[in-house]
Amino acid sequence: MPDPLRGSPISAPAAAPAEGPIASLRGLHKRFGAQKVLDGVSLDFATGRTTVVLGPSGSGKSVLLRHIVGLLRPDRGEVLFRGRRIDNLRERELFAVRREIGFLFQLSALFDSMTIRENLEFPLTEHTDLGPESRRQRVAEALRTVDLEGAMDKVPSQLSGGQQKRVALARAIILRPALILYDEPTTGLDPIRADGINQLIVKLQRELGVTSIVVTHDLVSAQAVSDRVIMLYEGKIIADGPLPAVRRSGDPHVQNFLRGVYEDDVERTAVAAGSAEENGPDEPQPSGQEVQG
Ligand SMILES: Nc1ncnc2c1ncn2[C@@H]1O[C@H](COP(=O)(O)OP(=O)(O)OP(=O)(O)O)[C@@H](O)[C@H]1O
Ligand SMILES: [Mg+2]
Repeated sequence: MPDPLRGSPISAPAAAPAEGPIASLRGLHKRFGAQKVLDGVSLDFATGRTTVVLGPSGSGKSVLLRHIVGLLRPDRGEVLFRGRRIDNLRERELFAVRREIGFLFQLSALFDSMTIRENLEFPLTEHTDLGPESRRQRVAEALRTVDLEGAMDKVPSQLSGGQQKRVALARAIILRPALILYDEPTTGLDPIRADGINQLIVKLQRELGVTSIVVTHDLVSAQAVSDRVIMLYEGKIIADGPLPAVRRSGDPHVQNFLRGVYEDDVERTAVAAGSAEENGPDEPQPSGQEVQG
């Protein structure tokens, strides 16, 4: 099995404060037209921890991530980064915040007409004073990290979807961010590559203290990387805790999601859960296999 972490000298990000959340959401509300997407979401993301965000398609996971980097502004509520409010900053002021945040977009969002090298150099040129040789080294280092050194001079259309995803990940880490937001990092990857990405997320956390927020549908990935799991449903957080605790949730929407049950069945399940509760409210029913720490 290829080792995607082979020879990956990732350098430390700027020192982060040891305590306090790196990012916080306070009573976030967001709607698009008549559609309510976030309905009062409050969360603290502890520095150095990995939080996985689960939720059905369309539940607002990507919208939530976009608020954390100021790509979307809330209708109501606040977004804080390192204790400072950022939802009301101007674009120019957001620049410094974005320098510290790596964002792996759901669709890789590479520049089609640029080579992989140029794609990776772009944030370095925009955000740093590094000279050409230092930039070249950084690009090589980031591509080594995702096991794609050979792709340097290709353009995105010459790569598979999974390879493009890994290039996007290399771009997300190239500025050595303190916080990395991953939107579906393993979707479209084969299980071995997906495992490589999971290992990389864990490695960035363990070795460099990077804080991660990982949006995923992939429960294998959630199990591999998460310290904490939250689940979004209809704009609200309906589960929050370590994965084993979330698996024991009595909420039918959580159980349906974890079991992959289509939500048309939700009413029937809710009725079943209600009757189970009458029989023994203190006994949450574990679902599926238990997860070790
Ligand atoms: N810029 C936008 N304008 C209008 N509607 C939007 C916009 N961005 C998101 N939405 C809507 O908000 C809802 C939540 O979108 P979001 O992309 O956050 O879902 P998601 O949970 O990430 O889903 P998926 O798992 O499919 O990626 C969707 O119904 C989407 O159509
Ligand atoms: Mg999404």
